[in-house]
Amino acid sequence: MASKSAVFVLLMVVVAVAAPIAVAQLGTVGRLLDRIRIQGTVFCSINATGSTASPVFPNARVQLRCGIGDVVSRATTNRLGLFLMQFIPRQTLSSILAECNLFVITPLARCNATLPGVGVLRSPLQFIGNTTVGLINNINIVPGGFVLVNVTV
Ligand SMILES: *[C@@H]1O[C@H](CO)[C@@H](O)[C@H](O)[C@H]1NC(C)=O
Ligand SMILES: *[C@@H]1O[C@H](CO)[C@@H](O)[C@H](O)[C@H]1NC(C)=O
Ligand SMILES: *[C@@H]1O[C@H](CO)[C@@H](O)[C@H](O)[C@H]1NC(C)=O
Repeated sequence: MASKSAVFVLLMVVVAVAAPIAVAQLGTVGRLLDRIRIQGTVFCSINATGSTASPVFPNARVQLRCGIGDVVSRATTNRLGLFLMQFIPRQTLSSILAECNLFVITPLARCNATLPGVGVLRSPLQFIGNTTVGLINNINIVPGGFVLVNVTV
């Protein structure tokens, strides 16, 4: 009898000690790591996001610029016009969506000589949802729509 209650007491002590440790660990290592994942296609057009009629823009240099113009991430489109940027955010999702834009800094004339050689394609960001992969929370973002603008970057 005595040994049984001793075991019970020991068990309670273990639970009492272990529970706060488990909670404390969940608060640090147990939290999912946020990762921004921006994926999209650049088209060879002054205004063509989602347009299937337009050819794509391969080898186009894409930059994510935030706030006063800091380049936060860079990517180059592949032969299908696709680009992907992945990084650990230093800002909240809402401030990234509010303060950042995508810029295609390769001139459109590079993919079609009849298109402008000045100006850049710019797109706001559009959040489409989170997906969890292991301990990573992917924050999925796509271009809201690229339009040619006459700004210097
Ligand atoms: C962009 O495309 C939309 C929809 O096709 C059109 O209404 C708009 O006038 C276009 N803008 C430019 C600058 O071509
Ligand atoms: C190049 O751009 C012009 C003007 O938008 C368009 O009419 C033409 O079809 C484009 N050429 C190619 C090969 O996409
Ligand atoms: C997506 O994840 C971000 C960062 O953890 C969070 O702020 C946001 O509320 C999440 N959004 C949705 C719809 O789950």
